[in-house]
Amino acid sequence: MKNDRILGIPLSVMLNENTKVKRFDENLSTIPSSWLKIHYKIYPRMERLYLDKKEKTTTFPRDIFKKRRSVRNFDSKLLRKGQLSAILLYSAGITYKSGTWDSALRAYPSAGARYPLEIYPIILKSKEIGSGAYHYNVKENSIELLLEGNFGNIIFQLVGKQEMIKTASAVIVITCIFDRVQSKYGERGYRYAFLEAGHLAQNIYLISPLLGLGCCGIGGFLDDRINSLLDIDGMNESAIYLLALGGYGRE
Ligand SMILES: Cc1cc2nc3c(=O)[nH]c(=O)nc-3n(C[C@H](O)[C@H](O)[C@H](O)COP(=O)(O)O)c2cc1C
Repeated sequence: MKNDRILGIPLSVMLNENTKVKRFDENLSTIPSSWLKIHYKIYPRMERLYLDKKEKTTTFPRDIFKKRRSVRNFDSKLLRKGQLSAILLYSAGITYKSGTWDSALRAYPSAGARYPLEIYPIILKSKEIGSGAYHYNVKENSIELLLEGNFGNIIFQLVGKQEMIKTASAVIVITCIFDRVQSKYGERGYRYAFLEAGHLAQNIYLISPLLGLGCCGIGGFLDDRINSLLDIDGMNESAIYLLALGGYGRE
């Protein structure tokens, strides 16, 4: 596929750079009303078929979908290793392997099975796992310690002082190594990365309540500060989505 370029720079690289958050607007006091109205598209004059609210089968786990909510107030329970393991394995891990690693498949769909995403759990509150920044080793379902330390205050600043970080027990950073997908799909592959991050994050959202956890996606973060924290360059590999995770409800 052709890589469209301006002044020799691929458009996806320009888009990535130009959509990075460089600073937060601290002066935003009132929320514009256009940000509050939710729009619904309807075709009032067209014939309609009303759909059932309840699927008849008793095994359909409708609660899983009803309970999918963004949680921003976590309880004081510390993150357990088993919880993190289940979250990572069933959101991003290998769920099918019969031959070589090159045919192994994961919990989320990936365009052309190129798997450009990487996961970095940042542990804030746990007794069983030391605080620090880790990388998820997909092959082993293990986490590799990159940097020891408590990054709660730093992450709080890097997400524009969002209060949820104060009670979160972990922050999951999803990054993308763009070449893995763009070497096959060119500029369009840039889009696929974000679709895949959405699939992966939705897994985290749906699994969390089953484990006594809550989560919240975070799209607003100082990209290159998060990238620096993880020692990635922000071009070939860049953070694209964060999720706060913490104790919530019963297991
Ligand atoms: C891409 C994306 C970015 C988001 N970023 C934030 C964020 O930075 N802070 C936050 O509190 N919620 C964030 N959210 C959560 C939304 O605010 C939330 O999904 C929305 O209000 C609907 O609520 P629900 O998820 O509970 O159904 C984000 C959600 C998505 C999908």
